[in-house]
Amino acid sequence: MRRLPPVLIDDGCSRELLSLIRTILAACKEISFRVGQGALSGVLGSTLDENIQGETQKKLDVLSNQLLKDILLESGYVKAIASEEEDYTVAGNPDAEYIVAFDPLDGSSNTDINSLVGTIFSIMKAPHGSDPADQTIFMQPGHQQVAAGYVLYGPCTTLALTIGKGTRIFTLDKTHGSFMLTEEFAKIPEDTKEFAINASNQRHWQPAMQNYVNDLLAGDTGPRGKNFNMRWIAAMVGDVHRVLCRGGLFTYPADTKDPNKPFKLRLLYEANPMAMLVEQAGGIAHTGEQRILDIDPQEIHQRVPVILGSKNEVEACLGYHK
Ligand code: AHG
Ligand code: MN
Ligand code: MN
Repeated sequence: MRRLPPVLIDDGCSRELLSLIRTILAACKEISFRVGQGALSGVLGSTLDENIQGETQKKLDVLSNQLLKDILLESGYVKAIASEEEDYTVAGNPDAEYIVAFDPLDGSSNTDINSLVGTIFSIMKAPHGSDPADQTIFMQPGHQQVAAGYVLYGPCTTLALTIGKGTRIFTLDKTHGSFMLTEEFAKIPEDTKEFAINASNQRHWQPAMQNYVNDLLAGDTGPRGKNFNMRWIAAMVGDVHRVLCRGGLFTYPADTKDPNKPFKLRLLYEANPMAMLVEQAGGIAHTGEQRILDIDPQEIHQRVPVILGSKNEVEACLGYHK
């Protein structure tokens, strides 16, 4: 089994990018340890604070954010960072080449029930000569990402990573602290009988998604002519990992539940990195109107609809949106 650094070097990863990825992973190993300690290290439960998006912060959201932020900024490998838990971008080393957007802990509602959580990250190049304090350096479409990944803190800790040469899966060997390559090229099956959606929002969805899901639920006597299974982990990182492992369709569509928040998932540190991982594994990632990786971001915490996964199933879903 191969360790992460030689695998990435063989893929043509620059020394600087490799160092940055290893820095992110150093923070993730620490988060993995703290998540694994659970109640023993006093990290469960909520803080009294909200982030800029009006969401109550869990203690683990704050801790994970602090670890990533401190380790990245101290490393000197980043020009700036953007995080779900930071109101604005944070300036780093003006001479660094890369910027990183991250969701320090995805699936925060799972922290207190010993269920799946993870860290999602997106790496882009900063425009040449740009100011590290300039928020607009993050306003790049996702197809310009140079690397994307997530670390899933589950029964084992796994890393899905792409630098644009396919999506690879590594497993953290906790005895040595090394991420070992355990799947060379993740390939999402083109067909599936599994979908993931928070069905409690059904009455708030737009007609296209209502019709699509109704046809899935109609099973083998409906227009799709086959029975579908449903899964919902309430952590995108867990649902996308299942899609990478065995296929499926994952969606968090537009809904009218809260008129101020028509979409749930954030473009820069949820949708974009997952879209790159999924496309690099042969899947599709779309909003219903356009490819996620082609969206021109307007703001750091921008939200978008997400439909991703197995190619033929995503195309079937998009057929309802035409
Ligand atoms: P976060 O914990 O980073 O705020 O993200 C949670 C997101 C996503 O991971 C997940 O798919 C979705 O919210 C869960 O939404 P529901 O609460 O509607 O299940
Ligand atoms: Mn999240
Ligand atoms: Mn989060």
